[in-house]
Amino acid sequence: MLEEFGTLPRLVERPVPERPPGHTLIRVHAAQVGHLDLNIVDGRFGVLPDLPMVPGTEAAGVVVASDVHPEGLPVRLRGGGAGMRRDGGWAEHAVVRDSAVVPVPEGTDPALACCFFSPAGTAWAAVHAVAAIRPGERVAVTGAAGAVGALTVQVAARAGAEVVGVVGRPAKLAHVPAPGKAVLASELTEETAGGRLDAVIDTVGGAVLSTVLGLVRGRGRVALVGYTAGRDFQVDLADFLLADVSLLPVNLMTRGAEVAADADRLLAELASGELVLPIERHPADRLAEAVERLRTGAAIGKVALDF
Ligand SMILES: NC(=O)c1ccc[n+]([C@@H]2O[C@H](COP(=O)([O-])OP(=O)(O)OC[C@H]3O[C@@H](n4cnc5c(N)ncnc54)[C@H](OP(=O)(O)O)[C@@H]3O)[C@@H](O)[C@H]2O)c1
Repeated sequence: MLEEFGTLPRLVERPVPERPPGHTLIRVHAAQVGHLDLNIVDGRFGVLPDLPMVPGTEAAGVVVASDVHPEGLPVRLRGGGAGMRRDGGWAEHAVVRDSAVVPVPEGTDPALACCFFSPAGTAWAAVHAVAAIRPGERVAVTGAAGAVGALTVQVAARAGAEVVGVVGRPAKLAHVPAPGKAVLASELTEETAGGRLDAVIDTVGGAVLSTVLGLVRGRGRVALVGYTAGRDFQVDLADFLLADVSLLPVNLMTRGAEVAADADRLLAELASGELVLPIERHPADRLAEAVERLRTGAAIGKVALDF
């Protein structure tokens, strides 16, 4: 239960919540700890809940009671304001709007079920809808060992791109998925990238964004996904106009419905192991440790809580 922005939620005992009409009660098995959740917990997001509240914008489990979903159905929850405007999935039981409940295939690992949609949907939107990657293009992906970054490397390579996976620390070089070429951000140059870039998909922002902008060819594209390395970046407007590189936002909230079917296809491939999304699992009572790994960038891929 989150009682004050800027602190961590406390584990508390509470009765199973009441289910109003139009809502589904879920027994949560796993919940994602994501950057969006931390922004909300910190009180640093555009949409904030009244406190106290249960955070958790994405979770997975089984239906306990619902007017529209059968009991025992494996589902994930996302949207409908869950974990953002009202109680979400960091709890053994969650009550969410029926529209925020999406069935997942029987036997899907709950940690994968609660973690795949945001990286899969974002990777797909960034590569296909926003950066519009074409076969043969040279594309750099920053934060390439992160959740969105790792999937973006794989989705861009499948689109026929030659992919350079950029990471911030040496320990992550080995975690850039094949067939991406792993390069350290501090060593990223036109030479180490293999030439000028046609496009960049940036999951890190901050100073890294300034660096990569300078390596993209004229009329190239930079699709910005996230800002883990900093919310601000500086650009010299004269240089920006001269470079003629488009800086494009990727927003899964506005594109979620558009990419939902593609993300579901990617879930099947993640479940079968054809695509890889690393997930760290932590017991629910070790939230502080899970948050610390995500905040410091030490986590490899997604972070999930087991309930
Ligand atoms: N626009 C959208 O719709 C959308 C959708 C999903 C996610 N996102 C955002 O995309 C970003 C990446 O998400 P993700 O799930 O891939 O996160 P992630 O797995 O934690 O990866 C983020 C990467 O950022 C790098 N990083 C640099 N400085 C960091 C710091 N101080 N703390 C933490 N990480 C740092 C790390 O890579 P290195 O160690 O290699 O530097 C890390 O692997 C987040 O900002 C998230 O909010 C946006």
